[in-house]
Amino acid sequence: MKFLGLLMALFCAMIMVMIPQVSAKRYLVGSKMGWASNVNYTVWAQDKHFYVGDWLFFVYDRNQNDVLEVNKTNYESCDTEHPLANWTTGAGRDVVPLNTTRHRYFVSGKGFCYGGMKVSIRVEKPPPPPKAAPVTSDAPRTSYRSQYVLPLAFAIGAVWDSFLRVLG
Ligand SMILES: *[C@@H]1O[C@H](CO)[C@@H](O)[C@H](O)[C@H]1NC(C)=O
Ligand SMILES: *[C@@H]1O[C@H](CO)[C@@H](O)[C@H](O)[C@H]1NC(C)=O
Ligand SMILES: *[C@@H]1O[C@H](CO)[C@@H](O)[C@H](O)[C@H]1NC(C)=O
Ligand SMILES: *[C@@H]1O[C@H](CO)[C@@H](O)[C@H](O)[C@H]1NC(C)=O
Repeated sequence: MKFLGLLMALFCAMIMVMIPQVSAKRYLVGSKMGWASNVNYTVWAQDKHFYVGDWLFFVYDRNQNDVLEVNKTNYESCDTEHPLANWTTGAGRDVVPLNTTRHRYFVSGKGFCYGGMKVSIRVEKPPPPPKAAPVTSDAPRTSYRSQYVLPLAFAIGAVWDSFLRVLG
């Protein structure tokens, strides 16, 4: 009978794994235009919310560009002498994890910054998970959190187990 309880818990855990986790998002910087000199990134960023755990994805011509992270002062003046980070990998496809709540400033270090090739974003705390899981599947950040579902699965399994033991 213990075996059945365990099976039940395993089953619940499996269901949990099959529920898609859509809590983190990867933003393609500049959308279809990518990281280029003719995009207004202020406009690109203004209707978006960036949360801790999301990523920025820079796609560009690796022979022409790079991705440097600077502070606010150097973002405004396009000074790339002392970048906070150089995210350039050389592949023209760079991923930046947004792992802290603060403003982040990225510029092109190849002179295009002066023409507006720079992007600033504010990284926010992720919104709390919804209390009741809605049925709609197109809501982006609604998902079961594994830290709640797994203990729940085991709790159900344990209750089921003792229930069967009472019967048997
Ligand atoms: C940014 O860094 C420069 C040095 O490269 C420094 O002079 C400036 O005060 C810094 N600005 C901020 C807002 O931290
Ligand atoms: C950034 O890193 C790339 C790859 O390592 C390197 O080629 C480039 O010179 C670096 N740029 C700066 C400004 O440090
Ligand atoms: C955020 O990511 C950077 C680069 O991957 C890493 O150096 C830093 O320690 C991370 N910070 C936190 C708070 O996880
Ligand atoms: C981007 O668009 C905003 C709003 O339309 C405008 O204020 C800003 O000057 C533009 N930036 C560039 C670099 O063209």
